[in-house]
Formats: sequence, C-alpha cells, structure tokens
Amino acid sequence: MTTHEELHATIRDMVQRGRGILAADESTPTITKRFAAVGIESNEETRRAYRQLLLSTPGIGEFISGVILFEETLAQKADDGTPLVEIARRAGIVPGIKVDKGLAALAHAPGDKVTQGLDGLAERLAGYKAQGARFAKWRAVSPIGPANPTPLGIQTNAEVLARYAAVCQEAGIVPIVEPEVLIDGDHDIAQAEAVTEAVQNEVFAALKRHRVELEAMILKPSMVVPGKAHPVKASPEEVAQRTVRILRRTVPAAVPSINFLSGGQTPEEATANLNAMNDGYPHLPWQLSFSYARALQEPPMATWKGRPENAAAAQAAFLHRARLNGLAQRGGYVAAMEKTG
Ligand code: 13P
Repeated sequence: MTTHEELHATIRDMVQRGRGILAADESTPTITKRFAAVGIESNEETRRAYRQLLLSTPGIGEFISGVILFEETLAQKADDGTPLVEIARRAGIVPGIKVDKGLAALAHAPGDKVTQGLDGLAERLAGYKAQGARFAKWRAVSPIGPANPTPLGIQTNAEVLARYAAVCQEAGIVPIVEPEVLIDGDHDIAQAEAVTEAVQNEVFAALKRHRVELEAMILKPSMVVPGKAHPVKASPEEVAQRTVRILRRTVPAAVPSINFLSGGQTPEEATANLNAMNDGYPHLPWQLSFSYARALQEPPMATWKGRPENAAAAQAAFLHRARLNGLAQRGGYVAAMEKTG
C-alpha cells in the first residue's frame, strides 16, 4: 500500500455511521487524578487492567471504530498475553496514539499554553506504527479569559498542530487535529462561539499552509458551550445551532469526520448535544461523531472502582454509554434511553 492508500484505508475504517472514537489516552498524571476521584490506586497494573476492561467489553466494536491510547498502553498485554492493541483490532477498533507531550507556557502570551512534542516526532511515529498505531492525536488548548486566548496563542498552536498533522501524513498516520477551547471559566456561550470560530479559522489556514490533505485527517473540536461557571446552561438545540454555524464557516467540506471531545460536559450532556446536531442538521458535508474520554469513561470507571468483581457491571456501563453515543451519531437518541440498560 502507498502512504496515500494507507491513510484512506484508515479513514474508511474509522469513519462509519453509528460509530465513534474512545479517547483512552490519559497521561499518567491525568489518569491518576481520575482514578483518585473514585478511589482507585494508579499503578502500571491498575491502568493495564482498566484499559483491558474497556477494550475487551463484549460488543463494543459496534459503536467504537477507533481508540486513542497512551504510549504505555501500546506495549501492554491482556491477562492471557495478547497485546491490548490486538484486542482492539479483533473488535474492529483501529488503534491510535496520543503523540503530543503536553502543554508549556507560551512566552510573551501570559495565560496561553503551547503544545510540546514536535522534536523527534517522525522517529517516534515510526516506532508507534511498528507497534500497530494507525492514527495519532495532538491536543492544543485555548483558555477563555479576559485576555485569552491571545492572537499569538491562537496562531502558534495552529501552526504547531499543522506541522504535527503534516508529519503524520508523511508517515502514513491519520492525524486527529484537536484544537480544544476550554470550558473553564464563567464566559457566556457567545464568547465561546467567537473564540472557537477564531481558533478553527486559524487552524485551517495553517493546515493549508502545511499542505495537509484534508480528506485524510479528522477534526476533534470542542462543542460551543458556555463556561462551566456561567450561571445559565445552554439547551442541546442552542449548542447544536451555534456549533454547526461555526463548523460551516470554518471547516472545509473535504474533511471526512468531526469527532467532538466532551471537555467537561456530563456524559448525558455530551450525548444529547451530539444528538441535537445530527438530528437537527442531517445534511452536513462531514460526519459528526464523538471522541470522548470522560463522557464515555466516567460511568464505567466509577462502577469498576478497581475491583475485579465489578468488571462485568463496568463493561455494561461502558457499552450503554457507547451505544447511546452511537445512536446520537445517527440522531436517534432520546433522553428516556438513559434509564434502560
Ligand atoms: P474529554 O472527552 O474528556 O474532553 O477528552 C477527550 C480528549 O481526548 C482530550 O484530549
């Protein structure tokens, strides 16, 4: 297969009706924090056992087409010695890898952060590919505040995202381009919309400059929602209307799929908001789906609690959440389904 064929085969395997992506790529400090919140100790073995539990959930491949892994998981094995990557593959799930190296302060742009990890990226990608990864993820963030994000922050992160995406495509790895607009703060939904539009405009200008093939990438944006500390919540219809409006203005029709992050929404909100977009706007040029971490994992993680006797119940909770999001991808979810098992 040529690199071009390889990229398009991966897009075909990942972009499918009723399916989305599981983000299970929490860095060790992040998963440690999430585990601690539900009383699970974080060590190599508990992280392995937890991620094995998710990937070996019976039937999960019906709703999940790709999984983003953290470097540690790429080399881990299930109890019977099968690599976790192989467990994913057997379920019809394409394995991918988080390749950014986290955030650092951006000099001369107080409050903004820039994502690290471009140095040596091509060499790292070759190694990840040999371990079975077919796509990658890189997360940039834009905080909303009185003076943030700065134009410098927006431009720098867009440039770095585009350089990452170009390196991935040369390596035959599909890039997930994730320009997250953070939910933290008391800003209203109009502010979130304005920032998201500015960020996405800059990202697509940079992708074009770096000759990234739009047909061979996936966008992972935030939905347009009010800040977490804002007193008024937005309805799914309003989130859908504003998010779709911005996507139409900023994302070329050549992009095959837009897979949202959940970004601190509750699992129910993330599902209802995705559903409102697919239900209300059925004729968009891109597929709209999910690439959730917290919104897929909160229920199973809280059910598991690190105890083997809870594994089956945790898998049931995970399958339920995945099924509801699969339905939301088709615009076929209704809130009453939350109650049924
Ligand atoms: P959340 O869905 O929890 O926002 O995580 C998605 C992700 O991959 C963040 O980089």
